[in-house]
Amino acid sequence: MRILRDPAALAAEALQRRARGERVGFVPTMGFLHAGHTSLMDIARPRCDWLVTSIYVNPLQFGPTEDLDRYPRDPQGDAEKCSAHGVDVLFMPDTLYAPDHSTTVKVGGLQEVLCGAKRPGHFDGVTTVVARLFGVVQPNLAVFGEKDFQQLAVIRRMVRDLAMGVEVIGGPLVRDADGLALSSRNAYLSPEQRRRALSLSRALRAMAAAAGDGAADPGALLALGAAQLDVDALDYLELRDPDTLAPYLGGPGPVRAFVAARLGPTRLIDNLAIEFTA
Ligand code: PAF
Repeated sequence: MRILRDPAALAAEALQRRARGERVGFVPTMGFLHAGHTSLMDIARPRCDWLVTSIYVNPLQFGPTEDLDRYPRDPQGDAEKCSAHGVDVLFMPDTLYAPDHSTTVKVGGLQEVLCGAKRPGHFDGVTTVVARLFGVVQPNLAVFGEKDFQQLAVIRRMVRDLAMGVEVIGGPLVRDADGLALSSRNAYLSPEQRRRALSLSRALRAMAAAAGDGAADPGALLALGAAQLDVDALDYLELRDPDTLAPYLGGPGPVRAFVAARLGPTRLIDNLAIEFTA
């Protein structure tokens, strides 16, 4: 595995490989990699000839009071994990933006709810960096985790609307054995906060089980989930359409439950598919 830092060198090689007919696969990350990230590499690896992973803690997607400065980093451990999971090039740019960078990619609608409503500007930062990374890496396919389910929906919409020609693949959310969704931010949690963080997945599972047993009232289901939560502040607990992210108002069909909550200063998110039978 090679480590490249220069966007122009990576772009030149990607262009050559695409011209030779190679399929370029891409897994963008912000590093501090865990089994959720490596599962995305495992999804991409058999689908491409040349696999690029990026590690770039993108300042554009952090709010002024968020954790940009203390975002966890482990470049050496990350490189070992990428190499063990078949990555050909680990792209670790010092910066991705020219000093006079002045373009923002904004996806309307989808990014105004859930995390977008709570983190103003966050998704503009995500779509702008992903568009920039796609410009450099020129991937045929890119894999994003369903842990950030809204991010995946927003990126799919950007790729469709701007005809970017990238196949976007969602990778299933990966959990610890006790149910906690894997996240680089779990590293911030004290043992007590980590124990209480399990209440996020517990709430979602309780809602899924009740819906599976025939519960049909969205309000009652949300109350059931909320009763399970043991967090310091709840950003949202919501039921939405998995494709449009429109609020779920009732009736049978696939729905997604979303939760975001804080334990101390740490913000965690989780989501789960809910199948309404009634
Ligand atoms: O999901 C992430 O790690 C980031 O939002 C991404 C997609 C790498 C963009 O910075």
